[in-house]
Order: sequence, then C-alpha cells, then structure tokens
Amino acid sequence: STLGASAAEKGGRYFGAAIAAGRLGDSTYVNILNREFNSVTAENEMKWSSTEPQRGSFNYTSANRIVNHALGQGMKIRGHTLLWHGQQPGWAQGLSGSDLRNAAINHVTQVATYFRGKIHSWDVVNEAFADGGSGGRRDSNLQRTGNDWIEAAFRAARAADPGAKLCYNDYNTDGINAKSTGIYNMVRDFKSRGVPIDCVGFQSHLGGSISGDYQANLQRFADLGVDVQITELDVAQGSNQANIYAAVTRACLAVSRCNGITVWGIRDSDSWRTGENPLLFDSSGNKKAAYTSTLNAL
Ligand code: XIL
Repeated sequence: STLGASAAEKGGRYFGAAIAAGRLGDSTYVNILNREFNSVTAENEMKWSSTEPQRGSFNYTSANRIVNHALGQGMKIRGHTLLWHGQQPGWAQGLSGSDLRNAAINHVTQVATYFRGKIHSWDVVNEAFADGGSGGRRDSNLQRTGNDWIEAAFRAARAADPGAKLCYNDYNTDGINAKSTGIYNMVRDFKSRGVPIDCVGFQSHLGGSISGDYQANLQRFADLGVDVQITELDVAQGSNQANIYAAVTRACLAVSRCNGITVWGIRDSDSWRTGENPLLFDSSGNKKAAYTSTLNAL
C-alpha cells in the first residue's frame, strides 16, 4: 500500500506532503509525490510575500503550479498560510495600525476568494502565540493592530470561501503546555462566540522525543468541536525517528476528529531542516525505516 491509500482507508483521512513548485520538474520527487500522497501543502508559494509581493498586486503563478498538479492528481490542498508574522512582503512589514489591519484583511479576502472551492483547509493564521510559559499572544505587527486580528481574519476567510475548513496552526503545541493551552482557550472562546473556526493544526516539528500527552492534547481540542490535523510533521534523525513517526500516526488515528497528517517535505534533501534528515525518504528517494513504521501504523 501507500501512505495516502492507507490513510484514506482509515475513515477517509489524508496523508500529505509540503511541496515546492520549483521541484515539480524533478521526476524522482514527482513519482514519490504521486504514488504516496493524497494531499499537498505549498511550502512557501501561498505565503503573503509570494502572493502579494506589491500591495494590491497579486501573483499566483507558483501557487498555481502546485494547485494544478494537485487537482490533476485528485489530491486535497491545504492552504498555507493567509496571515503570519513571517515571510511578509516588505511593504506590509512597514505598515502598522489600521493601515496594516486593512491590508491584512484585504489579503485574506483576496487570496481566499481566488482559491475558493479548491482548498480543503486554510491555515488562516499561523504561529500567533508566544513560546514559553505565558500562554499569551506573540508580539508582532499584526498583534499590535489589536487582539481581535485573529477573529477578523477568520471571519473574512469564512466570507471568502465558505467551503474551506478554517484552521489555526502553530508549533510547540505538541503536548499540554502553556502555549497549547493559550490556543485552547482562544478556540473555546471562538466557539462560544460563534467566531468561525473549524480546525487546529499542530505543526509537529519534533526532535528526539514525543510528549506523553500528544494524543490527549489532540483530543482536548477535538472535544471543543474542531477538527485537528498534523500539519508540518518532521522528526530529527536519530535512534527514535521511526518510533516517533509511528507514535504520531497512531495518535492521529486514535482521535476521530484527526483528519490527516502532512509531512514537511518528501526527501531529506528537500527539508528546511538542513542536516537533520527528518523526513520519510532519503535524499535518493528511498524509503527509510521511518516510512515503514509510519505505513505500518496506518
Ligand atoms: C519554512 C519553509 O520550509 C522554508 O522553505 C522557508 O524558508 C521558511 O519557512 N513553520 C511554518 C512553515 O509554518 O511555513 C515554515 O516553512 C516552517 C515552520
């Protein structure tokens, strides 16, 4: 079997990969992608700096290479990401206050409208919470426009693409801790006030261990009435890599509202974590032990 086919047999889940438009001419890469995965995320091509490099001037050329490939293969598409403190175009980095707020909401509306009907799940907001023990928001230009910027983004995304699941996505949320609890409290508040939110993404950029309450953390979010997704999984190479991939996979399958898993790249040589060899295929495209343990867990 394959990762995607096995996940699909488990209640219609998906198994996806982050991909780069610039690698779609690499036949080894594309062969693995088409064989193993039934969902994709654009690794960079849907970020603000890519889609709106000048204010009000949108460019979807690279994103569309990924979208067209995915649609041609019948793959789901995760949209990543509408608003984030990272990879903003220079013009947005220079804005503040209501000018930035208006530009940000316009960006959400324009991009979500452009891709309407094609996106399975949008990461509407990425990485808005602080690391460490505060459980509060991260300081950013977006946060300084007012604490309601996240809900404003979700409302704009819902209006633009009512068929997409709308997710909040973050890292260091892979267990019950102050950061994940801060997000949990935001989601609970959104649900109680009718702010549209459908899912929470757990990036899961992992090192040599997995939190003992990884599954319990997914479950507590699911119990709020949102789906959960593993959105950017990669695990540092080491003696435990295969076991950690399997444990994440089993945790997702054990939570009925866990829709799917996305790994953040295909081969180790495609990874943003240079030198960590954190993916399921080696640099030649061969299946690693982590691939086999993941497939066996599905
Ligand atoms: C990373 C990409 O993989 C890199 O190519 C890029 O240089 C920086 O961004 N969290 C996220 C992703 O939400 O968008 C990041 O992707 C990895 C961390």
